[in-house]
Amino acid sequence: MIKELSEDLRSKISAGEVVERPASVVKELVENSLDAGATEISIVVEKGGQQLIQLTDNGCGIPGDELPIAFKRYSTSKIASVNDLFTIDTLGFRGEALASITSVSEVNVVSASENSDGFEMSITNGELGEVQPAPAVKGTSITIRNLFYNTPACKLKFTNNVNQDLHTVN
Ligand SMILES: Nc1ncnc2c1ncn2[C@@H]1O[C@H](COP(=O)(O)OP(=O)(O)O)[C@@H](O)[C@H]1O
Ligand SMILES: [Mg+2]
Repeated sequence: MIKELSEDLRSKISAGEVVERPASVVKELVENSLDAGATEISIVVEKGGQQLIQLTDNGCGIPGDELPIAFKRYSTSKIASVNDLFTIDTLGFRGEALASITSVSEVNVVSASENSDGFEMSITNGELGEVQPAPAVKGTSITIRNLFYNTPACKLKFTNNVNQDLHTVN
């Protein structure tokens, strides 16, 4: 019988297209940092990215009141109209990366814009936590834990390529 997929299942399936393996997470986060004007990016990876990927940048930061929307699907600060599609000068614009990563891992984000307070937020099982005060260090730090813990099919695909990924990520 043909059925419409639930929203949760839809987002996990499309997440698999954006986040094929841990290296894809690193790529998406680095692109976001570069789009944010970062000049320094540090990356910590544990267990080939399955256990932990932590990326910290000194870019423009995400304002506290925009943290929740940054993690929604199709939310972006990079385009606003169809015309903008003809003049894209950023690496990302589809507004899918953070939402995708969030639906297949546990995420914490700490961010501060220039001369503003810092804020942090955690997302577990796709559910956004409260925005809380955090140190006002300009830039963004995103911590991804337990990648693919809730998507066995993605994990299996990745584990089959684990040697290649350990090589790529480390
Ligand atoms: N490291 C970062 N520094 C500043 N802003 C960020 C960072 N990462 C994400 N963002 C903000 O969150 C939004 C959503 O990110 P993402 O899901 O990757 O979509 P996209 O990059 O396609 O816009 C971005 O448009 C940007 O405004
Ligand atoms: Mg992006």
